Amino acid sequence: MDPRIRQSMNEYYDERAAEFDEIYTLGKPPGSVKDPELYMKEARVLATIVRAHCHGDLLDIPCGTGYWLGFYAENCSAITLVDQSENMLRESREKAREHDVESITRFFRGDALEVQLEDRSFDSVLIGFFLSHITDRQMALFFRNLRNLLKPDGRVLILDSIWSPFRRSRPKEGTTNRRLNDGRQYEIYKRYFETADLDRMSKSYGMDFSLLHEGELYIGFTGRVRG
Ligand SMILES: C[S@@+](CC[C@H](N)C(=O)[O-])C[C@H]1O[C@@H](n2cnc3c(N)ncnc32)[C@H](O)[C@@H]1O
Repeated sequence: MDPRIRQSMNEYYDERAAEFDEIYTLGKPPGSVKDPELYMKEARVLATIVRAHCHGDLLDIPCGTGYWLGFYAENCSAITLVDQSENMLRESREKAREHDVESITRFFRGDALEVQLEDRSFDSVLIGFFLSHITDRQMALFFRNLRNLLKPDGRVLILDSIWSPFRRSRPKEGTTNRRLNDGRQYEIYKRYFETADLDRMSKSYGMDFSLLHEGELYIGFTGRVRG
């Protein structure tokens, strides 16, 4: 990915931290929204999936504001949160405090593509709305690293943006502008997934992926290391 776009995307998320959760709680994604209730409704579906699939020693990468923590915290014996953004990590620290899991939670600021954690140590890895911001090449690197981090029976849960008819008026992949509440604009890389991508991803990344949720806005799937 062009380093300029990557830098712009990193800054965008850092600056968006304080308003990020509005997409889940108010149905207010960046840009215009026709139906906030649709966003809120699907966020509630994802929350149920998170609660059902995230447990044990959990890695949330990248964690953003830690929005999903409230739905997995009570299932977890240990929580590891990683993000490149200091402001996002500040929000997630607040979530850990609110949900009374500070003592079992650790925080790492850094690049999710290069993170160094203990091999074979995680029962669950949550990857929320990250794969849609990286290229195929970066994804190969990310999954190579991730395969080593999972326990033999560990699972990943992937939540991301779907290439549904609702979205077909925009490109499936490419750079696009995003606007903050105060009007500042940033160029970011964004791609959308469809169920047909799961087969290709399974073959490319040494994982077996299974679909859990195919909505109008979001897709959810689990993955385990093949073999
Ligand atoms: C769309 S948000 C999703 C946050 C959270 N996972 C969720 O589901 O709500 C994307 C997050 O990825 C982080 N991010 C993007 N690229 C990253 C990278 N290479 N390394 C670490 N964090 C990254 C951003 O800072 C941002 O917090």
